[in-house]
Amino acid sequence: MSGPISHHNPSEDEEKAEAPEASADQKAQMEQAYAQMRRKLRMTRLAEDIGNKIMVLSGKGGVGKSTVATGLALSLARQGKKVGILDIDITGPNIPKMLGIEGTELHVEDNQIHPAEGPNGLKVMSMAFLLEDPDKPVIWRGPIKLGAIQQFIGDVAWGKLDTLIIDFPPGTSDEPLTVAQYLPNIDGMVIVTTPQDVALLDSRKSINFSKTVKIPVLGVVENMSGYTLRGKADPNTEITVIGPQGLPLQATADGDGDWRVTLNLFKQGGGEAAADEFEVPFLGALPFDPGVVRGGDDGVHRIVAEPEGETAQAFDTIVTNLMAEISKGEDSAPEII
Ligand SMILES: Nc1ncnc2c1ncn2[C@@H]1O[C@H](COP(=O)(O)OP(=O)(O)O)[C@@H](O)[C@H]1O
Ligand SMILES: [Mg+2]
Repeated sequence: MSGPISHHNPSEDEEKAEAPEASADQKAQMEQAYAQMRRKLRMTRLAEDIGNKIMVLSGKGGVGKSTVATGLALSLARQGKKVGILDIDITGPNIPKMLGIEGTELHVEDNQIHPAEGPNGLKVMSMAFLLEDPDKPVIWRGPIKLGAIQQFIGDVAWGKLDTLIIDFPPGTSDEPLTVAQYLPNIDGMVIVTTPQDVALLDSRKSINFSKTVKIPVLGVVENMSGYTLRGKADPNTEITVIGPQGLPLQATADGDGDWRVTLNLFKQGGGEAAADEFEVPFLGALPFDPGVVRGGDDGVHRIVAEPEGETAQAFDTIVTNLMAEISKGEDSAPEII
């Protein structure tokens, strides 16, 4: 009697002999399945090679998400960390422009794309590098968009990184969902908002999204928080500045005669109030800084142009708070599902 393992099954041979050549369709399917498998493997390896993975989200556009994503990345890189930034905004990628590295040609080796290098040694990957004409909008739908994003995460040779910052288009559509599903061990998300009610309301969607994908909110950043006016007056005197809608703002000149007063362009403390309401950490506020707009246009980021400026300092504070939140998460026992 022969066992089932060594048993020779003639019907198998027959099957083999009779098996028709795989059709072109089947071959394509197989190749696709292999590519998918390789990508999955790479993603697992990627997750191991990258210390922290942070998603930057906002409920709506124009609140400064990309500004915050690049700011966090640059602030971390300035501390000597190895940092990557992944621009998942495939329809309107603007990170390379913000970093002044638009038009960089990417190097491809062994089917892997090597990211571009930005200021402070930042590694940058964006769809903008792959588009022939970055000004021409790309419309990606459904599965094609999904495939492009998967490929985009799995096929980049980041090397070893301390932190990867991922910037998204506004909202909680396919992009963050796909990344949340395919990239293992994401540490959490940072939600960017402005102090306006409507932006705060939109942030609520991001918080709900975090619950759906079971990725923690590391905190809220309030952007365009206030605009600081400075001036000189007689030492130790009170001065009045007429703010928007004729509202008087008081300031006191110090012993040297310097005074400063912050104009709250929208509303005060909205981001912090929202963080309280959602029971998530408040990471800090970024002032409204016209230099940010200039930097975005001419490709020299505010942090690079003025590393000791108010905005750079605000980013440093936010990064410190963010890293503290991440280490809290790492200290707690992982959830076993
Ligand atoms: N703190 C800030 N002070 C001044 N302008 C800002 C600030 N943050 C962002 N901006 C400007 O607002 C616009 C939108 O910012 P961006 O980061 O592209 O937003 P999003 O990625 O959310 O669409 C840009 O022109 C940017 O320069
Ligand atoms: Mg953006």
